[in-house]
Amino acid sequence: MPKPFYITTPIYYVNDKPHIGHAYTTISADMISRFHKLAGRDTFFLTGTDEHGNKVAEAAAKANLSEIEFCDKTVATFQNAWNNLTIENDYFIRTTSDRHKKAVWKILDAMREAKTDDGEDVVYSDYYEGLYCTGCEKFITEKELVDGLCPDHKVKPELLKEKNYFFRLTSFLPKIKELIESDELEILPEERKREVLGLIGQDLNDFSLSRERVKWGVPLSFDKSQVAYVWVDALSNYISAIGYGDDDESFKKWWTNGEVVHLMAKDILKFHCLFWPAMLLAAGEKLPKTLFLHGFFTVDGEKMSKSLGNMIDPNEVVENFGADGTRYLLLTQFPFGVDGDVQAKRFITQYNSDLANDLGNLVSRVVKMVLSNFDGKLPQPKKEIDGLEELLKATEEMPNAAYTHVKHFQLSKAIEEAMGLVKTTNKFFNDKAPWKLGKEGKFDEMGGILYACCEVIRIVSIVLSPIMPTKMREIRAIFNLDDSSLNLDQANTFFVLEPGITLNFNDSIFPRLSEKDLAKKEDTKSTEDDNLIDFDQFGKVELKVAEVLEAEKVEGADRLLKLQIAIGDDKRQIIAGVAEFYPPEKIKGMKIAVVANLKPAKIRGVESHGMLLAAKKGKKLTLMTVDGDIPSGAKIS
Ligand code: MSP
Repeated sequence: MPKPFYITTPIYYVNDKPHIGHAYTTISADMISRFHKLAGRDTFFLTGTDEHGNKVAEAAAKANLSEIEFCDKTVATFQNAWNNLTIENDYFIRTTSDRHKKAVWKILDAMREAKTDDGEDVVYSDYYEGLYCTGCEKFITEKELVDGLCPDHKVKPELLKEKNYFFRLTSFLPKIKELIESDELEILPEERKREVLGLIGQDLNDFSLSRERVKWGVPLSFDKSQVAYVWVDALSNYISAIGYGDDDESFKKWWTNGEVVHLMAKDILKFHCLFWPAMLLAAGEKLPKTLFLHGFFTVDGEKMSKSLGNMIDPNEVVENFGADGTRYLLLTQFPFGVDGDVQAKRFITQYNSDLANDLGNLVSRVVKMVLSNFDGKLPQPKKEIDGLEELLKATEEMPNAAYTHVKHFQLSKAIEEAMGLVKTTNKFFNDKAPWKLGKEGKFDEMGGILYACCEVIRIVSIVLSPIMPTKMREIRAIFNLDDSSLNLDQANTFFVLEPGITLNFNDSIFPRLSEKDLAKKEDTKSTEDDNLIDFDQFGKVELKVAEVLEAEKVEGADRLLKLQIAIGDDKRQIIAGVAEFYPPEKIKGMKIAVVANLKPAKIRGVESHGMLLAAKKGKKLTLMTVDGDIPSGAKIS
């Protein structure tokens, strides 16, 4: 029996919205997890959110929310995105949960009690002074700065000095080096392994485990003036989620006795390949088996960044290509593990060529021919067909070849195996031209060909189910198959479908998409978006308190009042449609809210410079007023 398999993604920062970079890792982990489950392996897939640290506290303050309110909101955007992408994680860990905090305390206590081989305390207290980038949540060295700025965030780091608890990383490095070199701690791909070993060769320092200045975090159990360093907090998610300090049985199963794989991009290599193993060694826990660091990708040749405004929202891709289309497109852009370019501009061409043409057409052509020539009943198989043996052989080899690729993290290769078989089957179908056989009355052979093609489609639907779970379920429904036969064993057996069963086919599985379809969706979206303004736009509106000095009706316009107002020293005239609700004598002297920076305009030929604010529903209207000592001219924010 293989060991239980436990796979994780990084936990994503909640001060960001989910983008296709996050989606890429999560979909990849989902594919791997689903594949192992398909093979009958006991598997646990974890993802979650990293919610502590100054960046989050700052973002919450900016949004006028408490930290936890802010986290709840953004966490929901991640969970929604993962739902939209049919991600099937077994648990979602939040670092603000009690379960997680308990685990952080436990690992900190374990590290605090630990001694190095030389008998020194692993955790010690000292002062730290250094340049700190809040963007990175880390101290950075002078060497790393570019023109005095953090290279990633383009801001000047602050010089900070504070009391910290330190972790004696340096004492663990020789052991970690040995473990990595011997592949006992497997770092993949090979290039990343070399990178880590290179890092160990440089001058690395101990790192501090705690922060005095950060307030939004897990307070240390032994010193409440400090919170756990955000990376110590975050890395512990991998064990808190499966019961460290909370559920020993589960922890033992997945961590101690399981095969643990952490998936991430190479941007967070140092924390995962050095800090995390050192923390685990100190706490006396087993190390993960594999850390796989996939490449960092650009989109249409450009680095994704907030400032360039080219971050792609995975939900938008789902709107255009469906969850399965999005999953397929992202997973097949470039080999897993290398840096690459996501060619979003070519998504539609690739979708149409791979999914609508190759796979979708194979299904419709074959099934439609069964419907029209065999009354919708699956015909009998026939072994003696020229070329069938080769097709059978290719089909037989495909599922295990794909699974082997998955075990080696070669995700696009695994997909190529299945899609390659689809191409081979299309060729077989074209070469055999069963439509001609029908005309010649050779229904026996025609039926045999169609039966074989249906079997290939069934097998492909199993192997591609970790990539496109919903569409593959639709394909399987054509053959009346449900999830009870969705496993690798069934993919390794041919002649499973019962001849005579009635096929159910309504619509093509992957309808072709045109640029027009996508543009239509974009249009509807942009009208929805047009109603939204961002902070910058809102910030341009100046709302102020004004006092109404004089009021009179506008001649010939029953509903309009001409008001003389004072916004501080600034005296103006505005025209307002409130006469039905406020007679001049009532409004005079009131302190009201106005938009002060509107360009002057003429209403019924009378100049109006500003606009008052009022709430209106049906036949009711109330002015937005200000009471108390707030003087006219005060800003409303
Ligand atoms: N919170 C930390 C991780 C803590 S794990 C204990 C963090 N979060 S993050 O939101 O910045 O996520 C980084 C991860 O997002 C990358 O490691 C990778 O998995 C994914 N990616 C983000 N952008 C990406 C690309 N452009 N390309 C590939 N992966 C991308 O770091």
